[in-house]
Amino acid sequence: MKDLCGRTVDYLRLSVTDLCNFRCRYCMPEDGICKRKHQEMLSVEDCIEIGRAAVHCGVRKIRLTGGEPLVRRGILEICRGLRAIPDLQELCLTTNGSLLPELAQPLRDAGVDRLNISLDTLRPERFEQMTRRGMFEDVWRGVAAAQAAGFTNLKFDTVLVGGFNDDEVSDLIALTMDHPWEMRFIELMPMGPCASWDKSCFRSVNTILQGNPALQPLDTQGVARRYRLPGAQGTVGLISPVSHDFCDGCSRIRVTSDGSLKGCLHAREEISLRGLHGETLENAIRHGILHKPQRHHLTERPSDTPRNMNQIGG
Ligand code: 5AD
Ligand code: SF4
Repeated sequence: MKDLCGRTVDYLRLSVTDLCNFRCRYCMPEDGICKRKHQEMLSVEDCIEIGRAAVHCGVRKIRLTGGEPLVRRGILEICRGLRAIPDLQELCLTTNGSLLPELAQPLRDAGVDRLNISLDTLRPERFEQMTRRGMFEDVWRGVAAAQAAGFTNLKFDTVLVGGFNDDEVSDLIALTMDHPWEMRFIELMPMGPCASWDKSCFRSVNTILQGNPALQPLDTQGVARRYRLPGAQGTVGLISPVSHDFCDGCSRIRVTSDGSLKGCLHAREEISLRGLHGETLENAIRHGILHKPQRHHLTERPSDTPRNMNQIGG
């Protein structure tokens, strides 16, 4: 269905947990987060019911996010339940990749169509420094497991952080020569722990074009402007939520891990869906879609949401 600005909303990002086995510096505090009470969070059944109601309201694509969705107990059940919704066209999942060695095949069997893997660096020491807990090796084995399980057109998401990984852009892009992957670069958004970071950390992804003049423009797909290196199998995507906002074409709604519907990642307004069922649930989702905020204000000020990314799922 359309919102009041005339945008078609057909994409739900559902955060299934705010927990994560990593502590990426821009996303989570060092000690993690207070574990919330079980009954404050969405159950497996809630997730499936919300998915079904959203599809009734016109959603055709669902992406499971986190925190890290693969640490969620019952994740495979959630995937199977959502996959069984007749009108759902695509079920995707965004992961840090560390649990894919065990879970790639079960996820494939549960009906997940596509995976995005977050990958900020290819250097093991840097990887440990940024994630504070993660091991590059695990993720790299996870990538192999995903390929072996039949996830062929993988997308990788790199958050561009000035002074941290901006010297690795060419190495990441070079992976597209031999792999049919999409390497995507996302501008760091000022929210949560990184809201107070130095200005130099926030780089426009346009700097990537200046540094890699061989990139040839393709089309725009969703929020990513896409490019290709001559002769490459894969593509490069630039996602600029800050410098080049794509609110006009935004087709998304989000549900947080504690069951609140957000029309915009950066907005303060939310509608709690917890405890709602049937018609009431669908009406709440319709209301949320209709009143989806027109745009964010990241160019003027930090994100208006008091939440950290791990509860919203990016
Ligand atoms: N800016 C941009 N991307 C972010 N992510 C987490 N925090 C931020 C931020 N402040 C990304 C992660 C992952 C996804 C869950 O969201 O790197 O790709
Ligand atoms: Fe975990 Fe993703 Fe946040 Fe890193 S960015 S701490 S992997 S949720």
